[in-house]
Amino acid sequence: MTCVLGIETSCDDTGVAVYDTSAGLLANALYSQIETHADYGGVVPELAARDHIRKVVPLVNRVLTEAGVAGEDLGGVAYTRGPGLAGALLAGAAVARSLAYGWGIPACGVHHMEGHLLAPMLEPVPPTFPFVALLISGGHTMLVEVEGIGRYRILGQTLDDAVGEAFDKTARLLGLGYPGGPAIARAAEHGDASRFNFPRPMSDRPGLDFSFSGLKTFTRTTAMQNDLDSRTIADIARAFQDAAIDSLLIKCRRAMRETGYSSLVVAGGVGANQLLRGKLSDPGVGTGVDVYYPRPEFCTDNGAMIAYAGVWRLSGVDPDDLSFDVRPRWPLDELDPA
Ligand code: KG4
Ligand code: ZN
Repeated sequence: MTCVLGIETSCDDTGVAVYDTSAGLLANALYSQIETHADYGGVVPELAARDHIRKVVPLVNRVLTEAGVAGEDLGGVAYTRGPGLAGALLAGAAVARSLAYGWGIPACGVHHMEGHLLAPMLEPVPPTFPFVALLISGGHTMLVEVEGIGRYRILGQTLDDAVGEAFDKTARLLGLGYPGGPAIARAAEHGDASRFNFPRPMSDRPGLDFSFSGLKTFTRTTAMQNDLDSRTIADIARAFQDAAIDSLLIKCRRAMRETGYSSLVVAGGVGANQLLRGKLSDPGVGTGVDVYYPRPEFCTDNGAMIAYAGVWRLSGVDPDDLSFDVRPRWPLDELDPA
Protein backbone atom coordinates (compact mmCIF):
# COMPACT_ATOMS: atom_id res chain seq x y z
CA MET A 1 0.00 0.00 0.00
CA THR A 2 1.27 3.45 -0.90
CA CYS A 3 -0.29 6.75 -0.02
CA VAL A 4 0.66 9.74 -2.18
CA LEU A 5 0.04 13.43 -1.60
CA GLY A 6 -0.65 15.30 -4.86
CA ILE A 7 -0.21 19.05 -5.28
CA GLU A 8 -1.46 20.93 -8.37
CA THR A 9 -0.56 24.61 -8.88
CA SER A 10 0.00 25.01 -12.63
CA CYS A 11 -2.57 27.76 -13.20
CA ASP A 12 -5.36 29.25 -11.09
CA ASP A 13 -6.50 26.29 -8.97
CA THR A 14 -4.70 25.07 -5.86
CA GLY A 15 -5.54 21.37 -5.77
CA VAL A 16 -4.33 18.97 -3.06
CA ALA A 17 -5.32 15.32 -2.55
CA VAL A 18 -4.28 12.04 -0.95
CA TYR A 19 -4.53 8.87 -3.04
CA ASP A 20 -3.99 5.40 -1.64
CA THR A 21 -3.16 2.51 -3.97
CA SER A 22 -5.46 0.12 -2.07
CA ALA A 23 -8.20 2.36 -0.68
CA GLY A 24 -8.38 4.90 -3.56
CA LEU A 25 -8.91 8.60 -3.04
CA LEU A 26 -8.81 9.44 0.69
CA ALA A 27 -9.14 13.22 0.59
CA ASN A 28 -9.37 15.98 -1.98
CA ALA A 29 -9.47 19.76 -1.60
CA LEU A 30 -9.49 22.61 -4.08
CA TYR A 31 -9.13 26.34 -3.77
CA SER A 32 -10.21 28.18 -6.91
CA GLN A 33 -8.73 31.62 -7.62
CA ILE A 34 -11.59 32.63 -9.92
CA GLU A 35 -12.49 35.66 -7.79
CA THR A 36 -8.88 36.87 -7.76
CA HIS A 37 -8.70 36.96 -11.55
CA ALA A 38 -12.31 37.72 -12.51
CA ASP A 39 -11.79 41.50 -12.66
CA TYR A 40 -8.96 41.04 -15.17
CA GLY A 41 -10.88 38.69 -17.49
CA GLY A 42 -8.08 36.10 -17.30
CA VAL A 43 -5.33 34.69 -15.11
CA VAL A 44 -2.72 37.17 -13.81
CA PRO A 45 0.39 34.98 -13.35
CA GLU A 46 1.97 36.92 -10.46
CA LEU A 47 -1.29 36.96 -8.47
CA ALA A 48 -1.74 33.24 -9.15
CA ALA A 49 1.71 32.40 -7.76
CA ARG A 50 1.19 34.48 -4.60
CA ASP A 51 -2.22 32.92 -3.97
CA HIS A 52 -0.81 29.38 -4.29
CA ILE A 53 1.88 30.24 -1.71
CA ARG A 54 -0.86 31.27 0.74
CA LYS A 55 -3.12 28.28 0.13
CA VAL A 56 -0.98 25.16 -0.39
CA VAL A 57 0.08 24.45 3.21
CA PRO A 58 -3.41 24.95 4.79
CA LEU A 59 -4.87 22.65 2.11
CA VAL A 60 -2.17 20.03 2.76
CA ASN A 61 -2.98 20.11 6.49
CA ARG A 62 -6.67 19.76 5.72
CA VAL A 63 -6.35 16.73 3.41
CA LEU A 64 -3.89 14.93 5.69
CA THR A 65 -6.29 15.34 8.62
CA GLU A 66 -9.21 14.18 6.49
CA ALA A 67 -7.24 11.18 5.21
CA GLY A 68 -6.00 10.37 8.71
CA VAL A 69 -2.41 10.07 7.48
CA ALA A 70 0.72 11.69 8.90
CA GLY A 71 3.15 13.28 6.42
CA GLU A 72 5.93 10.90 7.53
CA ASP A 73 3.74 7.89 6.68
CA LEU A 74 3.16 8.90 3.07
CA GLY A 75 4.92 7.05 0.26
CA GLY A 76 5.79 10.35 -1.42
CA VAL A 77 4.72 13.76 -2.62
CA ALA A 78 3.83 14.41 -6.27
CA TYR A 79 3.53 17.92 -7.67
CA THR A 80 2.92 19.42 -11.10
CA ARG A 81 6.29 20.15 -12.72
CA GLY A 82 4.75 21.55 -15.93
CA PRO A 83 3.44 22.68 -18.31
CA GLY A 84 1.93 25.83 -16.81
CA LEU A 85 2.77 29.26 -15.42
CA ALA A 86 6.38 29.33 -14.18
CA GLY A 87 5.72 31.21 -10.92
CA ALA A 88 2.66 29.13 -10.08
CA LEU A 89 4.53 25.88 -10.77
CA LEU A 90 7.50 27.03 -8.65
CA ALA A 91 5.23 27.78 -5.69
CA GLY A 92 3.83 24.21 -5.69
CA ALA A 93 7.16 22.55 -6.48
CA ALA A 94 9.02 24.39 -3.70
CA VAL A 95 6.40 23.56 -1.06
CA ALA A 96 6.09 19.94 -2.20
CA ARG A 97 9.87 19.43 -2.19
CA SER A 98 10.28 21.08 1.22
CA LEU A 99 7.52 19.01 2.82
CA ALA A 100 8.95 15.80 1.37
CA TYR A 101 12.44 16.71 2.62
CA GLY A 102 11.10 17.47 6.09
CA TRP A 103 9.15 14.22 6.23
CA GLY A 104 12.06 12.19 4.82
CA ILE A 105 10.06 10.85 1.87
CA PRO A 106 10.60 11.08 -1.92
CA ALA A 107 9.07 13.76 -4.16
CA CYS A 108 8.49 13.79 -7.89
CA GLY A 109 7.32 16.30 -10.49
CA VAL A 110 4.58 15.06 -12.81
CA HIS A 111 3.28 16.25 -16.18
CA HIS A 112 0.02 18.17 -15.86
CA MET A 113 -1.45 16.67 -19.05
CA GLU A 114 -0.51 13.14 -17.97
CA GLY A 115 -2.52 13.93 -14.82
CA HIS A 116 -5.53 14.96 -16.93
CA LEU A 117 -5.11 11.93 -19.17
CA LEU A 118 -5.10 9.51 -16.23
CA ALA A 119 -7.92 11.23 -14.30
CA PRO A 120 -10.61 8.77 -15.57
CA MET A 121 -8.62 6.03 -13.74
CA LEU A 122 -10.06 7.49 -10.52
CA GLU A 123 -13.59 6.49 -11.57
CA PRO A 124 -15.36 3.23 -10.61
CA VAL A 125 -15.19 1.98 -14.21
CA PRO A 126 -11.80 3.06 -15.54
CA PRO A 127 -10.67 2.68 -19.16
CA THR A 128 -8.15 0.00 -20.08
CA PHE A 129 -5.17 0.51 -22.39
CA PRO A 130 -4.92 1.16 -25.27
CA PHE A 131 -7.17 4.14 -25.86
CA VAL A 132 -7.33 7.46 -27.64
CA ALA A 133 -7.37 10.54 -25.39
CA LEU A 134 -8.88 13.88 -26.30
CA LEU A 135 -7.19 16.39 -24.00
CA ILE A 136 -9.01 19.69 -24.02
CA SER A 137 -8.10 22.46 -21.59
CA GLY A 138 -7.32 26.15 -21.42
CA GLY A 139 -3.80 25.56 -22.73
CA HIS A 140 -4.03 22.34 -24.76
CA THR A 141 -6.12 20.67 -27.43
CA MET A 142 -4.75 17.32 -28.54
CA LEU A 143 -5.58 13.79 -29.56
CA VAL A 144 -3.18 11.24 -28.13
CA GLU A 145 -2.74 7.53 -28.78
CA VAL A 146 -2.17 5.98 -25.35
CA GLU A 147 -0.68 2.49 -25.18
CA GLY A 148 0.25 2.65 -21.48
CA ILE A 149 1.60 5.03 -18.85
CA GLY A 150 4.11 7.29 -20.59
CA ARG A 151 3.56 5.63 -23.95
CA TYR A 152 1.98 8.55 -25.76
CA ARG A 153 1.89 9.42 -29.45
CA ILE A 154 0.38 12.75 -30.36
CA LEU A 155 -2.03 12.21 -33.26
CA GLY A 156 -3.03 15.84 -33.65
CA GLN A 157 -3.05 19.14 -31.79
CA THR A 158 -4.08 22.72 -32.17
CA LEU A 159 -2.09 24.86 -34.55
CA ASP A 160 -3.04 28.05 -32.69
CA ASP A 161 -5.45 28.59 -29.76
CA ALA A 162 -6.55 25.85 -27.38
CA VAL A 163 -10.30 25.18 -27.41
CA GLY A 164 -10.69 26.33 -23.76
CA GLU A 165 -8.82 29.52 -24.63
CA ALA A 166 -11.27 30.07 -27.51
CA PHE A 167 -14.19 29.67 -25.07
CA ASP A 168 -12.52 32.12 -22.66
CA LYS A 169 -11.79 34.73 -25.36
CA THR A 170 -15.29 34.46 -26.82
CA ALA A 171 -16.83 34.89 -23.37
CA ARG A 172 -14.72 38.00 -22.79
CA LEU A 173 -15.78 39.39 -26.18
CA LEU A 174 -19.44 38.84 -25.30
CA GLY A 175 -19.02 40.27 -21.79
CA LEU A 176 -19.87 36.91 -20.18
CA GLY A 177 -17.01 36.86 -17.69
CA TYR A 178 -14.34 34.38 -16.68
CA PRO A 179 -13.93 31.41 -16.87
CA GLY A 180 -15.51 31.41 -20.29
CA GLY A 181 -16.42 27.76 -20.83
CA PRO A 182 -19.25 27.45 -18.31
CA ALA A 183 -20.41 31.02 -19.12
CA ILE A 184 -20.69 30.30 -22.86
CA ALA A 185 -22.45 27.00 -22.16
CA ARG A 186 -25.01 28.76 -19.92
CA ALA A 187 -25.66 31.58 -22.42
CA ALA A 188 -25.92 29.10 -25.33
CA GLU A 189 -28.82 27.29 -23.64
CA HIS A 190 -31.05 30.24 -24.61
CA GLY A 191 -29.54 30.75 -28.07
CA ASP A 192 -31.21 30.15 -31.43
CA ALA A 193 -29.11 27.65 -33.40
CA SER A 194 -30.52 28.75 -36.76
CA ARG A 195 -29.62 32.47 -36.54
CA PHE A 196 -25.85 32.21 -37.19
CA ASN A 197 -23.91 29.42 -38.84
CA PHE A 198 -20.22 29.44 -37.88
CA PRO A 199 -17.53 27.47 -39.80
CA ARG A 200 -16.38 24.09 -38.43
CA PRO A 201 -12.61 24.68 -38.32
CA MET A 202 -10.29 22.19 -40.12
CA SER A 203 -13.13 19.79 -40.87
CA ASP A 204 -12.50 19.92 -44.61
CA ARG A 205 -8.77 19.18 -44.24
CA PRO A 206 -7.28 15.72 -43.70
CA GLY A 207 -5.42 14.89 -40.49
CA LEU A 208 -6.15 15.30 -36.82
CA ASP A 209 -4.91 18.81 -36.07
CA PHE A 210 -7.20 21.54 -34.74
CA SER A 211 -7.40 25.29 -35.27
CA PHE A 212 -9.57 27.77 -33.40
CA SER A 213 -8.21 31.17 -34.44
CA GLY A 214 -10.43 31.34 -37.57
CA LEU A 215 -13.51 30.59 -35.47
CA LYS A 216 -12.42 33.27 -33.00
CA THR A 217 -12.12 35.85 -35.82
CA PHE A 218 -15.49 34.82 -37.27
CA THR A 219 -17.05 35.25 -33.82
CA ARG A 220 -15.47 38.68 -33.37
CA THR A 221 -16.65 39.84 -36.81
CA THR A 222 -20.19 38.61 -36.11
CA ALA A 223 -20.18 40.37 -32.72
CA MET A 224 -19.04 43.64 -34.35
CA GLN A 225 -21.75 43.47 -37.03
CA ASN A 226 -24.62 43.07 -34.56
CA ASP A 227 -26.04 44.91 -31.57
CA LEU A 228 -24.95 42.87 -28.56
CA ASP A 229 -28.31 42.62 -26.82
CA SER A 230 -28.90 39.59 -24.61
CA ARG A 231 -30.64 37.61 -27.38
CA THR A 232 -27.78 38.17 -29.82
CA ILE A 233 -25.21 37.27 -27.16
CA ALA A 234 -27.04 33.97 -26.55
CA ASP A 235 -27.29 33.29 -30.30
CA ILE A 236 -23.57 33.96 -30.86
CA ALA A 237 -22.64 31.82 -27.82
CA ARG A 238 -24.79 29.03 -29.26
CA ALA A 239 -23.26 29.28 -32.75
CA PHE A 240 -19.73 29.38 -31.31
CA GLN A 241 -20.27 26.42 -28.99
CA ASP A 242 -21.93 24.33 -31.71
CA ALA A 243 -19.01 24.98 -34.09
CA ALA A 244 -16.26 24.40 -31.50
CA ILE A 245 -17.81 21.16 -30.22
CA ASP A 246 -18.52 19.88 -33.75
CA SER A 247 -14.92 20.43 -34.69
CA LEU A 248 -13.79 18.30 -31.70
CA LEU A 249 -16.34 15.65 -32.58
CA ILE A 250 -15.28 15.38 -36.22
CA LYS A 251 -11.64 14.82 -35.22
CA CYS A 252 -12.58 12.25 -32.55
CA ARG A 253 -14.54 10.21 -35.07
CA ARG A 254 -11.59 10.35 -37.46
CA ALA A 255 -9.07 9.35 -34.74
CA MET A 256 -11.15 6.35 -33.69
CA ARG A 257 -11.45 5.23 -37.32
CA GLU A 258 -7.72 5.63 -37.96
CA THR A 259 -6.49 3.83 -34.81
CA GLY A 260 -9.23 1.19 -34.70
CA TYR A 261 -9.25 1.53 -30.88
CA SER A 262 -12.49 0.96 -29.02
CA SER A 263 -12.09 3.41 -26.10
CA LEU A 264 -11.96 7.18 -26.04
CA VAL A 265 -10.94 9.17 -22.96
CA VAL A 266 -12.00 12.80 -22.76
CA ALA A 267 -10.22 14.91 -20.13
CA GLY A 268 -9.33 18.52 -19.29
CA GLY A 269 -11.61 21.43 -18.38
CA VAL A 270 -13.59 21.50 -21.65
CA GLY A 271 -14.43 17.83 -21.03
CA ALA A 272 -16.98 19.13 -18.50
CA ASN A 273 -19.00 20.56 -21.41
CA GLN A 274 -22.45 18.94 -21.49
CA LEU A 275 -23.05 19.48 -25.22
CA LEU A 276 -19.82 17.62 -26.01
CA ARG A 277 -20.74 14.78 -23.63
CA GLY A 278 -24.23 14.54 -25.07
CA LYS A 279 -23.00 14.43 -28.66
CA LEU A 280 -20.26 11.89 -27.94
CA SER A 281 -22.80 9.49 -26.48
CA ASP A 282 -25.35 10.10 -29.25
CA PRO A 283 -25.54 6.98 -31.46
CA GLY A 284 -26.16 9.22 -34.50
CA VAL A 285 -23.25 11.68 -34.26
CA GLY A 286 -20.95 10.14 -31.62
CA THR A 287 -17.88 7.99 -32.21
CA GLY A 288 -19.64 4.69 -31.60
CA VAL A 289 -16.98 3.63 -29.06
CA ASP A 290 -16.94 3.60 -25.25
CA VAL A 291 -16.21 7.07 -23.91
CA TYR A 292 -14.63 7.59 -20.47
CA TYR A 293 -14.61 10.87 -18.55
CA PRO A 294 -13.43 11.93 -15.15
CA ARG A 295 -16.31 13.20 -12.96
CA PRO A 296 -16.78 16.92 -13.80
CA GLU A 297 -14.76 18.19 -10.78
CA PHE A 298 -11.78 16.12 -11.98
CA CYS A 299 -12.07 17.42 -15.57
CA THR A 300 -10.77 20.80 -14.42
CA ASP A 301 -7.49 21.10 -12.53
CA ASN A 302 -7.27 19.12 -9.29
CA GLY A 303 -4.81 17.47 -6.93
CA ALA A 304 -6.31 13.97 -7.24
CA MET A 305 -5.06 13.46 -10.79
CA ILE A 306 -1.56 14.57 -9.76
CA ALA A 307 -1.54 12.18 -6.77
CA TYR A 308 -2.69 9.35 -9.06
CA ALA A 309 -0.02 10.08 -11.72
CA GLY A 310 2.49 10.34 -8.85
CA VAL A 311 1.81 6.73 -7.83
CA TRP A 312 3.29 5.69 -11.18
CA ARG A 313 6.04 8.29 -11.35
CA LEU A 314 7.44 8.09 -7.80
CA SER A 315 8.92 4.65 -8.35
CA GLY A 316 11.48 6.05 -10.78
CA VAL A 317 12.89 8.83 -8.55
CA ASP A 318 16.22 8.94 -6.74
CA PRO A 319 15.32 9.88 -3.13
CA ASP A 320 18.74 11.46 -2.55
CA ASP A 321 18.46 13.88 -5.47
CA LEU A 322 17.27 17.15 -3.96
CA SER A 323 17.55 19.28 -7.12
CA PHE A 324 14.38 20.27 -8.93
CA ASP A 325 13.12 22.49 -11.70
CA VAL A 326 9.80 23.33 -13.39
CA ARG A 327 8.94 22.92 -17.07
CA PRO A 328 6.52 25.72 -18.15
CA ARG A 329 6.69 24.15 -21.63
CA TRP A 330 6.93 20.37 -21.62
CA PRO A 331 5.83 18.27 -24.62
CA LEU A 332 3.78 15.27 -23.48
CA ASP A 333 5.55 12.88 -25.86
CA GLU A 334 8.91 13.52 -24.11
CA LEU A 335 7.77 11.38 -21.16
CA ASP A 336 9.27 7.92 -20.57
CA PRO A 337 7.15 4.81 -20.02
CA ALA A 338 6.58 4.09 -16.31
O1 KG4 B 1 -8.05 21.78 -17.38
P1 KG4 B 1 -8.38 23.16 -16.95
O2 KG4 B 1 -9.08 23.35 -15.62
O3 KG4 B 1 -7.12 24.07 -16.88
C1 KG4 B 1 -6.09 23.99 -17.81
O4 KG4 B 1 -5.25 23.05 -17.68
O5 KG4 B 1 -6.10 24.82 -18.72
O6 KG4 B 1 -9.27 23.80 -18.11
C2 KG4 B 1 -9.76 25.12 -18.02
C3 KG4 B 1 -10.51 25.42 -19.31
C4 KG4 B 1 -10.93 26.89 -19.38
O7 KG4 B 1 -10.57 27.39 -20.65
C5 KG4 B 1 -12.45 26.82 -19.20
O8 KG4 B 1 -13.13 27.87 -19.86
C6 KG4 B 1 -12.76 25.47 -19.82
O9 KG4 B 1 -11.70 24.63 -19.39
N1 KG4 B 1 -14.04 24.91 -19.36
C7 KG4 B 1 -15.09 24.65 -20.18
C8 KG4 B 1 -16.15 24.20 -19.36
N2 KG4 B 1 -15.71 24.18 -18.06
C9 KG4 B 1 -14.41 24.61 -18.09
N3 KG4 B 1 -15.23 24.79 -21.52
C10 KG4 B 1 -16.42 24.47 -22.06
N4 KG4 B 1 -17.48 24.04 -21.34
C11 KG4 B 1 -17.40 23.89 -19.99
N5 KG4 B 1 -18.46 23.46 -19.31
ZN1 ZN C 1 -5.43 21.49 -16.67
